[in-house]
Amino acid sequence: MKLLDIINSRFSYRGYLDKEVEQEKLNYILQCARLAPSAKNLQPWKIYIVKSKEMKEKVCSAYARDWLKEAPVIAVFVGKKGANWVRGDGEDYLMCDVTIITDYFVLAAAEIGLGTCYIAAFDREKLIEALNLPEDEEPFLMTPLGYPKPESKRERNRKPLSEIVEEV
Ligand SMILES: Cc1cc2nc3c(=O)[nH]c(=O)nc-3n(C[C@H](O)[C@H](O)[C@H](O)COP(=O)(O)O)c2cc1C
Repeated sequence: MKLLDIINSRFSYRGYLDKEVEQEKLNYILQCARLAPSAKNLQPWKIYIVKSKEMKEKVCSAYARDWLKEAPVIAVFVGKKGANWVRGDGEDYLMCDVTIITDYFVLAAAEIGLGTCYIAAFDREKLIEALNLPEDEEPFLMTPLGYPKPESKRERNRKPLSEIVEEV
């Protein structure tokens, strides 16, 4: 599949079938994520893979949506504070690095027919408690991972290039 086709097949899926994700598929996605670039190659991140019913319940308490509970896997993307690159003017790139590894994960999932949905609107404190995260780990994003319900696909709506690109 061409990259454009993979990108086009990715949607925010908010509905999942009652079907497990094969371990080989999860491994493939994680291998792709591992290769994500980061500023100064510091790789200041960690991915928590949540599969057990008990842990899923805890994590879902931070973002109570039925469609999140449906997913067989939830991945939480965490940045390691103090382990990332900071520009000379103080701009912190931790969230940027974590976003990139999340993107690699999400696109690899799309390539092999699995659905995801970026989630940032979780209750931070509840998620930290659910995963028992240490002080230096900041959760930025999470996503369900599973076989999407086809009807959970929505229309694509994007600004035209003419609005977002400027040649200078
Ligand atoms: C950084 C980020 C955070 C997001 N957080 C949420 C969220 O908390 N809950 C949710 O349902 N969707 C969330 N989304 C999904 C967006 O709403 C979605 O990507 C956007 O509407 C475009 O739709 P598409 O992903 O289907 O192309 C988030 C997306 C991004 C990139």
